[in-house]
Amino acid sequence: MTKSLIDILDLSTGEIDELIETANRIIENPQAYAHKCEGKKLATLFFEPSTRTRLSFEAAMYELGGHVLGFSEAASSSASKGESVSDTVRVVSGYADIIAMRHPKEGAPMVASMKSLVPVINAGDGGHNHPTQTLTDLLTIRRKMGRLDHLTVGLCGDLKFGRTVHSLIGALSRYEGIRFVLISPQELTIPDYIREEVLEDGHQDYVETTDLEAVMPELDILYMTRVQRERFFNEADYIRLKDSYILTREKLDSAKKDMCILHPLPRVNEISVDVDEDSRAGYFDQALYGKYIRMALILKLLGVE
Ligand code: CP
Repeated sequence: MTKSLIDILDLSTGEIDELIETANRIIENPQAYAHKCEGKKLATLFFEPSTRTRLSFEAAMYELGGHVLGFSEAASSSASKGESVSDTVRVVSGYADIIAMRHPKEGAPMVASMKSLVPVINAGDGGHNHPTQTLTDLLTIRRKMGRLDHLTVGLCGDLKFGRTVHSLIGALSRYEGIRFVLISPQELTIPDYIREEVLEDGHQDYVETTDLEAVMPELDILYMTRVQRERFFNEADYIRLKDSYILTREKLDSAKKDMCILHPLPRVNEISVDVDEDSRAGYFDQALYGKYIRMALILKLLGVE
């Protein structure tokens, strides 16, 4: 069976460490990797909008010397005529060596991986998971903080629908000495299955709060997230909750001097643009590192040395 990446927990911590090491080597010497995927094709099947994930996957494959094909919205594919994900993937896996898929339905990439003849990468499925964002986050944390253990990690905003948060909690739970500080409005707390199966059953150290400013001094990492408008059933609820947390320079006065601010992006209002100039702002580096970790992942799943 081909090896796909559907959930971050499909990878062991050893495999994640190897991917981070490969990404660091690519960053040091990109030219050494410029021909590694010559003759190989990546298909990007994006049934939902994306800037970073799709374009960084495409840039990753081009920088490895490979080719890219695909679509960026369901409307320009035969999904608009009623074709199933299974049939689409079965067909495309005859045209490409590896597939990156984003879909609004939770579980769609997993279904695709069961029909595909080539590896499938989950590039985000509904409000569920986003494993390659987590690899990006882990690479960024390792580069900024020098470690993935013994950190107090604040996750702030839409923890209910924010799929990047769900994958990141799963991944970081496997490292020693992680303390989670979960900051959200009452309506947007983490789903019960993560609280029960990952945090409680895993005996993780965590607290839940609505007050970002009260916990700011404790944090080594502050991971801000956007309120996910596209997952709300009711526009009035979105409007009421969308500006629950806005990080400004003044609010950072009480933060540690070496705290790292991350955000998977896109941002709307949750980080004021004046924070971009603060040395603790890591989110644009994070977006760049996404390309390098996806290069490492493509190499791994294609079995390229
Ligand atoms: N972080 C992220 O997934 O961004 P895009 O939606 O632009 O791909």
